[in-house]
Amino acid sequence: MNVTVPGPTLGVVGGGQLGRMLAEAAAPLGVDVIVLDPTPDCPAAPVAREQIVGDFDDPEAFRELASRVDALTFEIELADAALLDRVADEFDLSVHPAPETLETIEDKLVQKRALEDAGVPVPPFRQIDDAEDLRAALDEFGAVMLKARTGGYDGRGNVPVTDPADAEEAMDAVGGPAMAETFVDFARELSVIAVQGDDEVRTFPAGENVHEEEILRETILPARTTDEVLERAEAVARDVLDTLSGRGVFGIELFETEDGEILVNEIAPRPHNSGHWTIEGARTSQFEQHVRAVLGWPLGSTRLRCPTVMANVLGTVEEPQPARLGNVEAVLGDADASLHWYGKDEVRPLRKMGHVTLTGGSELDAAAESDTDELLAHARDVRDALTFE
Ligand SMILES: Nc1ncnc2c1ncn2[C@@H]1O[C@H](COP(=O)(O)OP(=O)(O)OP(=O)(O)O)[C@@H](O)[C@H]1O
Ligand SMILES: [Mg+2]
Repeated sequence: MNVTVPGPTLGVVGGGQLGRMLAEAAAPLGVDVIVLDPTPDCPAAPVAREQIVGDFDDPEAFRELASRVDALTFEIELADAALLDRVADEFDLSVHPAPETLETIEDKLVQKRALEDAGVPVPPFRQIDDAEDLRAALDEFGAVMLKARTGGYDGRGNVPVTDPADAEEAMDAVGGPAMAETFVDFARELSVIAVQGDDEVRTFPAGENVHEEEILRETILPARTTDEVLERAEAVARDVLDTLSGRGVFGIELFETEDGEILVNEIAPRPHNSGHWTIEGARTSQFEQHVRAVLGWPLGSTRLRCPTVMANVLGTVEEPQPARLGNVEAVLGDADASLHWYGKDEVRPLRKMGHVTLTGGSELDAAAESDTDELLAHARDVRDALTFE
């Protein structure tokens, strides 16, 4: 293929922080982005060329988007897969990853079945339609994580259950068709950001993820585990990509068990929060890779530049309020820190509002930190100094 710049215009369904960072990464490549999102002035709007305001299943809005772009992608699982497929067909556009892949992934039960059928290691799981199914799963597994099949994120839709007496309440909490998997007593959580290009797969080095209350707090590179585990994580990620179709970036969340086995938790068919470290920490960011991949362009290097920690800036408020971040000097005054603010109007308890990235030592900068534990502590200090006013 002959790549020319200015390049094509990319249509993105979803204009949250991922759409914003996609548009930021696309601009230097000469690629304009148009986003579709229901929230007027969504996070991506100020950096995209244009926003089409519409729901993730609004045929007219999809057609409007398709009529103005050269290729389609999405940054949110709520994008209507069948509609994407239809509209892409109608306007003779490519859409990546494939809508069928989105369809498989958006239902956690269907996703896990597809992985299991392909021989990818996953925790044992069962379909749960009612409290009786849940009690049977508890009987079989002891403790489970009950998960809504669709629509869950940041731990919403997930309920840990151990006591059969809690079954009815847990079913009410997930509020619909569910799946249950064994509660994994993991040693740590890892993720691999993998890129499916035109004729090759590239993976970023696995990151170590710290979750609290099922919400990602920090990602640490390099992960504090053995080379053997890192290699296994990469191999599993490649096996996962073999089961999916279409080009693009995929976030693959993994559990490392106490005996060094890797199990797949879930897949995101898009750039992932645990890959935000790549903006400063890798040679090419996951967002640039996604743009390159969906356009069928050559992929960039996934090399780690230096030890890197990403710390999420979550809403540390009791009640929703207008979003204004204070004490930003804590980041600006730190030579190793970078701020990414997502531009959301309202801060809510534990809402993802931005992130901070800390980069550590390289051969060129002997004074910088190369110890991951210290870098993590440093990142937390910088992040925790930020306040909502
Ligand atoms: N089977 C399990 N055993 C133990 N902990 C689990 C299990 N499943 C999930 N968790 C914990 O809950 C977190 C969130 O779970 P999961 O990734 O399924 O939810 P999500 O809401 O889709 O998350 P995301 O924020 O990635 O969209 C996991 O990262 C992990 O810490
Ligand atoms: Mg997850």
